[in-house]
Amino acid sequence: MTTTTTQPAAGSTASDGDAGLTVKNLWKIFGRDADKIIGTPDADLSRAELKEKTGCVVGVKDVSFDVAPGEVFVVMGLSGSGKSTLVRCLTRLIEPTAGQVVIAGQDIVSASEAQLRDVRRSQVSMVFQHFGLLPHRQVIDNVAYGLEIRGVAKKDRRAKASEIVELVGLKGYERSYPDQLSGGMQQRVGLARALAGDPSMLLFDEPFSALDPLIRRDMQNEVIRLHHELGKTMVFITHDLAEALKLGDRIMILRDGAIIQVGRPDEVVGAPADEYVRDFVSDVPRSHVLTLKWVMRDPRPEDSMEGPTMPADTIVRKAAQAVLASAHPVRVIEDGKVVGIVDDEEILRVVVAEEDHQEVPA
Ligand SMILES: Nc1ncnc2c1ncn2[C@@H]1O[C@H](COP(=O)(O)OP(=O)(O)O)[C@@H](O)[C@H]1O
Ligand SMILES: [Mg+2]
Repeated sequence: MTTTTTQPAAGSTASDGDAGLTVKNLWKIFGRDADKIIGTPDADLSRAELKEKTGCVVGVKDVSFDVAPGEVFVVMGLSGSGKSTLVRCLTRLIEPTAGQVVIAGQDIVSASEAQLRDVRRSQVSMVFQHFGLLPHRQVIDNVAYGLEIRGVAKKDRRAKASEIVELVGLKGYERSYPDQLSGGMQQRVGLARALAGDPSMLLFDEPFSALDPLIRRDMQNEVIRLHHELGKTMVFITHDLAEALKLGDRIMILRDGAIIQVGRPDEVVGAPADEYVRDFVSDVPRSHVLTLKWVMRDPRPEDSMEGPTMPADTIVRKAAQAVLASAHPVRVIEDGKVVGIVDDEEILRVVVAEEDHQEVPA
């Protein structure tokens, strides 16, 4: 997740190979006769105009994207931008008004009720902000609940649940009840419950938004660790940019139900698509996100060729010390060729520009 590629994580297993997601021209409009709006000029109205004219509310507006198997794909936007509606449409917890959703090769929109149940039980698990744990059941039985529904025998589901409880760092708490646990630990139970059925894809809807900052950071690190170990495809919703940058291989930014930008963290920070995105990223310490590619200059004839080389996707902050210590400018390499030069000036320009910003992502 610290890489900027969209390749599956190193830990991906062969069985995850078909666990991608494709969304095409997905719409959700709430209200009467919503389906009649799509394809008419009214569909091009702004959300406010459509509401005024028809009483209908656009939740998701003509959204298309792909998530590669093993990718961590973050969906970000202000409250009301359509994030929850989108993620619920993926497994038809909310019925899309139009469009296509394909998970692991299976067409979700045309799936029967029985097929959908199967997808929700064994392919895709969700983790919500409100953990939804069963209060009268111990941790172990909350984790095993999905397996119980599937008819897995008690001995087998307890064995599987113990394994997962240990994986998420809850060993020793098997017999506790949810209300005996802190918020962070309850969310670990939520995570364990989602993992117990061994889904190929995890959907997270702002799971850590209600947690204290330090606990939240632990949980983010936990997600990163689990992703490295299990390599599952993840769609992670957040309204917190630092969280998005930390977790996402790519980030999709929504406003009023529509996609404003999709890109790697360095692309979103380095080249925001519009003012809305620029506002979002304005407080980000750029040296933590941008790569040398974003700050390098063209080579000049007088440049010394004696300096060290560095890959173009090196994060500026990680390169800074070596660049500043080098007597010669650093040559930036991509595909075996020198594509630019980074010297003290290029580094200092980024670092000085962010001096006003005290906030540093964890
Ligand atoms: N059941 C519903 N009926 C009418 N409007 C809804 C419904 N659910 C969500 N909306 C509206 O859809 C928009 C997107 O909401 P939501 O997906 O919850 O946004 P987010 O998760 O980004 O905060 C909001 O304007 C919201 O009021
Ligand atoms: Mg939401």
